[in-house]
Amino acid sequence: MTIRNLDDLLAEGVSGRRVLVRADLNVPLDKQTGEITDDGRIRAVLPTLGALVSAGAKVVVCSHLGRPKGSPDPQFSLGPVAGRLGELLGAPVHFATDTVGDSARSTVAGLADGEVALLENLRFNVGETSKDEAERGAFADQLAALADAYVDDAFGAVHRKHASVFDVPARLPHVAGRLVLREVEVLSTLTGNPERPYVVVLGGSKVSDKLAVIEALLPTVDRLLIGGGMCFTFLKAQGHEVGSSLLEEDMVETCRNLLERSEGKIMLPVDVVAAVAFAPDAEHDVVPADGIPSKRVGLDIGPETVAGFAAALRTGTRTIFWNGPMGVFEMPAFANGTRGVAEAIAESDAFSVVGGGDSAAAVRLLGLDEKSFGHISTGGGASLEYLEGKTLPGIAALEN
Ligand code: 3PG
Repeated sequence: MTIRNLDDLLAEGVSGRRVLVRADLNVPLDKQTGEITDDGRIRAVLPTLGALVSAGAKVVVCSHLGRPKGSPDPQFSLGPVAGRLGELLGAPVHFATDTVGDSARSTVAGLADGEVALLENLRFNVGETSKDEAERGAFADQLAALADAYVDDAFGAVHRKHASVFDVPARLPHVAGRLVLREVEVLSTLTGNPERPYVVVLGGSKVSDKLAVIEALLPTVDRLLIGGGMCFTFLKAQGHEVGSSLLEEDMVETCRNLLERSEGKIMLPVDVVAAVAFAPDAEHDVVPADGIPSKRVGLDIGPETVAGFAAALRTGTRTIFWNGPMGVFEMPAFANGTRGVAEAIAESDAFSVVGGGDSAAAVRLLGLDEKSFGHISTGGGASLEYLEGKTLPGIAALEN
């Protein structure tokens, strides 16, 4: 089934109409200062917002931020995001201090054509994430009452069966925004018929989070490079000692089984940066991956591994998907693995897709040129679930 998109809505005419845009403005904030440390997700929604503003819509943006528990919690306020969004749009953004209450209703009622409002965090309301359909539906009714049409541009949240993602589109004329459309176009080329060789790089801390995607990718990929905290459970499955590195004991057998079935496609680190503690200034050395000393913790892949991974990424590769950092890249001493892999991907001629979350943040934090990548997804969990072949509630809701 085809999904209607923003151009269809614009063609109908949106001047003077209230358009609710579900965005994913779940940006990382500095714990001390509360400042936005990576505004990539805000920038990613600008094409949709800009088009609606130019067409004279009254644009009502909603989003979640973090995981508050269904009631207002100042540390998760979208207030700072409203400021940054206004700077990027070059026009003030009216901020409602609640999501569907008096402030939201009066802010929306006061919008002139071509103006933008941002509602307070959707997750300050129990109905947003409720598993109870009636509770979700009641909240969706209130949200839908604020608008005449709905645009989903929150790719990072399409895997969530939440009121603003799943239930509101059932109540309003609905279309996919520019970002959701582009994400789906790109990711469908990976699940469809990617140009070969197709190499996937997976990192991040937990094997359990990536198990389903590894299962789904193994038959399709030519090479699967594994780094990050999850590599230690694989190394253990190969019979190596991993010291005090991150280990999911209950996944060792599963990893062994995957290695056996992988026909040699899985490539693991051959060396590791092992530290005496999990700390930015911890003493550390490069050690062989098959001999991590008992009191050491592996915090990054080593230089020989980076060179091996880089070679696998460069040699004639046509398609690359990367999700998850290779080490604790937030600490400079353990960022070289992630940097090396990211640079190899950036230098490759292949069509490369960076799968959201930490890997997208790493590209920007390490100062790499975003244009050297084919596509940087805004969805971490969402892009993985898409590649797993799961039905994504937010996409299914747009198809109906
Ligand atoms: C994300 O950061 O992946 C999205 O914003 C979804 O957030 P969530 O995992 O809290 O639903």
